[in-house]
Amino acid sequence: MREIGIIASLSSETEARVILKEGQERVVKTEDLVFVRNRNGGDILAVLRKGLGSNENLNPGGYHPGVAYARIGGQPSTAKETYDFALSVIGEARESVSQNKRIVAPGSLVEIFTDDDNPMRLLAGGKHALTLGFYEGHSNWRVPVDASFIPYHIGVFASTGGGKSFLARFQIIPLLQKGGYDVLILDWKGRDYAPFFPKDNVLGISQIALDVDAVTGYLAEKMANFGYSAYGGTVTQALEEFIFAEKWRGLSVEEFQRVLEHSMVNSLNPGRTVSGRPFEDEHRFRRGLKRLRDVDIQSILGTNTSKDILEQVRKKHLSVIDMKRTGSSEKLSMFLTLANHLMERMHNDEDLNLALVIDEGPQYVPFKPKGIQEKTTDVIIDLCALGRTHKLCISLLSQGIAGEIGINAAVRRNLNTQFVGKIHPLDMIEVGNWLSPFNIDPKFLLSLPPGHFYFMGNMNPSPIPLLVTFEVPE
Ligand SMILES: Nc1ncnc2c1ncn2[C@@H]1O[C@H](COP(=O)(O)OP(=O)(O)O)[C@@H](O)[C@H]1O
Ligand SMILES: [Mg+2]
Repeated sequence: MREIGIIASLSSETEARVILKEGQERVVKTEDLVFVRNRNGGDILAVLRKGLGSNENLNPGGYHPGVAYARIGGQPSTAKETYDFALSVIGEARESVSQNKRIVAPGSLVEIFTDDDNPMRLLAGGKHALTLGFYEGHSNWRVPVDASFIPYHIGVFASTGGGKSFLARFQIIPLLQKGGYDVLILDWKGRDYAPFFPKDNVLGISQIALDVDAVTGYLAEKMANFGYSAYGGTVTQALEEFIFAEKWRGLSVEEFQRVLEHSMVNSLNPGRTVSGRPFEDEHRFRRGLKRLRDVDIQSILGTNTSKDILEQVRKKHLSVIDMKRTGSSEKLSMFLTLANHLMERMHNDEDLNLALVIDEGPQYVPFKPKGIQEKTTDVIIDLCALGRTHKLCISLLSQGIAGEIGINAAVRRNLNTQFVGKIHPLDMIEVGNWLSPFNIDPKFLLSLPPGHFYFMGNMNPSPIPLLVTFEVPE
């Protein structure tokens, strides 16, 4: 510990300002952690933010000797120069940290933690064994995490390139596993997770069986709705019947194509007429069929059911679903199939001990969901609600928080632990609402380097957000 200054007048039990001792302004930085030896009793753990420098000789907007001197380019006097920081109280420290109720006395001494002291141990208080990353600037200060709040869900927010996927891969996922959760990762582009895990842990989306609703919707879309203006019509109905009969499961692509053609023509134009409605319907279908590529068929022929996927996750403790080279509707259809299965299990009162990592969150739960996204949004809200009591953790990553670039507000309210990194300027107001009470300037978040996040909410043992980061292994 090293003394850096004293508490200024107008302090309260949660906030104060520290006047720095001469020269300390060159070493003390925002986010540094300090101890206040409160003259009113107790030691207080606190964090420094929002520094302020002032020099009475240099007050702008008026003409006086100091300003006059500056105008002609002289070095002004530092006699009336002071530096201070706002201090946000984390809590009163004994064996662990608890809420501070006494006013921080003006004049109390303030000491800074040096690398060898470890304030994180105080925060952990012997209760929280698991940690995540480290406190910014101190690689030996591992940040403690309250694992009992894992099933209260996690939100990770930062603009593209802010380090969300890295945070998930190197910190959140290992933490969830240590907390006793098996992890299922949904890799939207197949680029952020799938290439970095053993092949045995990765499942291609085309290997996954979709439910019949998802398959019909998908095929109709690929066949341009058979020329109808929207989903529906005689030919689509015939397709539905074909798919719902499920005789096509387990076929190869060529077999599927043959069986589909045969049974559709039989149903649409059984008399093989060469004019009239049945003939036109047959041709509608044939035009659609021409559009259907082998890869489209391939992506519905998967045989792994949701149950199989869960069994694999149980066995290997971590699985990645690689969704590259498929359209959003297939991805979301697959997700719905899986989510419905998880809901069913929780309705049967099963504890899941499972964490779903959903990267590219706005694809599933946008600000204003449309079409299939309405279903994925609803089901994620339901998963969150039931997950709290059945040990299912939803970890959702998003490049935006609120509004057009963000995620659905009802989903956001369910993510009780948040990591907020470098944000998009459009999120300034939202972040201001969250962080200004803690003296964190939202503007500071516009320039955070990748991999730096404010950690806040349920899983953070500190009542105020902490700036955490992590190293990327070679
Ligand atoms: N902790 C970190 N330290 C240093 N660089 C990082 C860290 N985290 C992320 N990065 C850098 O940022 C880049 C983007 O990270 P990524 O997780 O893909 O961002 P996002 O998912 O938010 O778009 C990475 O390729 C890496 O170079
Ligand atoms: Mg990413």
